[in-house]
Amino acid sequence: QYTSFVLVTCSATLTTCFRSSLLPPPLRLRTRLPQIIIIGVRKGGTRALIEMLSLHSSVAAAQNEVHFFDWESHYQKGIPWYLSQMPYAYPDQLTVEKTPAYFTSGKVPKRIYDMNPDIKLLLILRDPTERVLSDYTQVFYNRLQKHKRYQPIEYVLVKDGDINLGYKALNRSLYYVHMQNWLQYFPMDSIHVVDGDELIRDPLPEMKRVERFLKLAPQINASNFYFNKTKGFYCLRDHGKERCLHDSKGRAHPHVAPAILQKLYKFFHEPNQKFFQMVGRTFNWK
Ligand SMILES: *[C@@H]1O[C@H](CO)[C@@H](O)[C@H](O)[C@H]1NC(C)=O
Ligand SMILES: *[C@@H]1O[C@H](CO)[C@@H](O)[C@H](O)[C@H]1NC(C)=O
Ligand SMILES: *[C@@H]1O[C@H](CO)[C@@H](O)[C@H](O)[C@H]1NC(C)=O
Repeated sequence: QYTSFVLVTCSATLTTCFRSSLLPPPLRLRTRLPQIIIIGVRKGGTRALIEMLSLHSSVAAAQNEVHFFDWESHYQKGIPWYLSQMPYAYPDQLTVEKTPAYFTSGKVPKRIYDMNPDIKLLLILRDPTERVLSDYTQVFYNRLQKHKRYQPIEYVLVKDGDINLGYKALNRSLYYVHMQNWLQYFPMDSIHVVDGDELIRDPLPEMKRVERFLKLAPQINASNFYFNKTKGFYCLRDHGKERCLHDSKGRAHPHVAPAILQKLYKFFHEPNQKFFQMVGRTFNWK
């Protein structure tokens, strides 16, 4: 009976498996709805954030994107189903899931509020222009892999000489539009914005801020990160085990004509100012 429990817990991550084999079972249970949700944004660095957060011993992270609040077919299954998607956790651990599409889905804030109005939300954002290019790049590679046709980036970004407002990826970068929906249900005290550009450039200070916001014991430290020169990114060290994020996470963006880039920067200037005002903080976006 005990053996089988240990086996089940080992199917989570290697670290937790290692820990659980040291402690008498059954301690880790799937009985905790998330106290933290990473709500987005798509291509903002949500994978990096959840991986870095799970370095903390008080956090247990769901492996997959759950899409509970945004997909009707999942939401209809109810809270018991949602619970079944959560990771095994010790009683003193917080559980966290990330679904980047939550941020831009209008119906999600109310649904999360109805589950737990005191939940802590993490939102990781990067320069909105960079985010659009990254969004395009992901779709481009997905279509390439499926041998489907794709449009060059100039065609989707610009229509009749103007920024193409019909391009969904642009809309996802209008952060203030989506933030309004969240602020109807949650105070800024419940939402922490992580600077995704900074998290990639220098992860430790951003993660210390996240620890403070979540009122976690300060634990993540410099030895959890090391710079991989080949990748040009930081990788993680977790209980002596080293791991880097998937290669698709650092893909080069397509070349975009400088004139179009300038148009994009200009386009986002005002929306960015609105967002800064809304959250009472500025970001170093172009
Ligand atoms: C962007 O998306 C929001 C939410 O889905 C929608 O209300 C808004 O009209 C869209 N804006 C543009 C310019 O497409
Ligand atoms: C960082 O944290 C690890 C694990 O908690 C600990 O063993 C190590 O001594 C810490 N290193 C520093 C520089 O504080
Ligand atoms: C550094 O990155 C390269 C390229 O992705 C990878 O092959 C290598 O294993 C990494 N090295 C370490 C120590 O993480």
